[in-house]
Amino acid sequence: MRLIIRDDPTQASSYIAKYVIDRIQAFNPTKEHPFVLGLPTGSSPVGIYKILVQKYKAGEISFENVVTFNMDEYIGIPREHPESYHTFMYKHFFSHVNVHPSNIHILNGNAPDLEAECVQYEAAIKKAGGIDLFLGGIGPDGHIAFNEPGSSLASRTRVKTLAYDTIIANSRFFDNDLDKVPKMALTVGVQTVLEAREVVIIITGAHKSLALKKCIEDGVNHMWTLSSLQLHPHPMIVVDEDATLELQVKTVKYFKSIEAVASSQGFEQILPSKIRTGPRTTALNSTYSPSKPATTTPAKEEPSILSPQPLTSTLLARRRRSIRFVAIRRSWCRIVWGVGLLRFRV
Ligand code: GLP
Repeated sequence: MRLIIRDDPTQASSYIAKYVIDRIQAFNPTKEHPFVLGLPTGSSPVGIYKILVQKYKAGEISFENVVTFNMDEYIGIPREHPESYHTFMYKHFFSHVNVHPSNIHILNGNAPDLEAECVQYEAAIKKAGGIDLFLGGIGPDGHIAFNEPGSSLASRTRVKTLAYDTIIANSRFFDNDLDKVPKMALTVGVQTVLEAREVVIIITGAHKSLALKKCIEDGVNHMWTLSSLQLHPHPMIVVDEDATLELQVKTVKYFKSIEAVASSQGFEQILPSKIRTGPRTTALNSTYSPSKPATTTPAKEEPSILSPQPLTSTLLARRRRSIRFVAIRRSWCRIVWGVGLLRFRV
């Protein structure tokens, strides 16, 4: 886990925007081998989108070969509603850059069969080769996408009832009228996010500092679904100073020192080269032959985590084994001690 701390939301946003641009460029995406980017909504990523749009307009990045998958969408409000996540994404990002409309994926909260919509979404992610980088934000209760407290950490794209806290938090976008806020949504699952090759989260503001603490300093817990990132091989959380208010001073110092040492060594997040550039580059270099150009692109690598890791059961099994061992050792001690006592009496 990397925790990057910046002075304010603007600096946190520009760190992430630069990081995303670097990642896309290093990946060198093509039509056959696009970069697959997971995207969030909410006020937190607005600054990131703004910079990405600026950089696109300045000719510093192209989204030509980027495929996108959004995290979530409300159920029951029209796609054209000013607060739908469709509208949000076009307003802040898609309308200003060169992402192909056919490469944009947003869940349809008005689909006639919502369950089928979720199944198809997971299938589309898989067909695209898995998500290379999932960008996300969190709610004040630590939810990622709409994976509210208590969501299964093995969850996948599904229909979700929104928590009362989330309805209150999101009412600011609906004239502060709770009745206008949708109560249901479609969302990618925790497991869907964990299967991305990399996850980058933005957290800003004092109101999210408790969530950050729970996710960084405490254990993995379904009541704070962001904490599941502790199980991911390449997560990075970028925050402003306000978001660190509930962290221990030593935690803040620790992560700042890690960043300082890493940058003194000339790198940021360590990623295996297969994830940084995609498996294609190496394969193409080694097998390229002008006579068979069409067959040299191997299938894209599957996501690094394909199914829930058997971590809990493994740990429990190990614990059971060690309990059994202690019990056996105790029995032996008792026998040896008993024999000794008998001898002593004789
Ligand atoms: C909603 C979205 C989340 C997002 C959260 C935070 O709940 N479903 O994906 O992270 O809002 O929003 P904000 O950044 O406005 O605090």
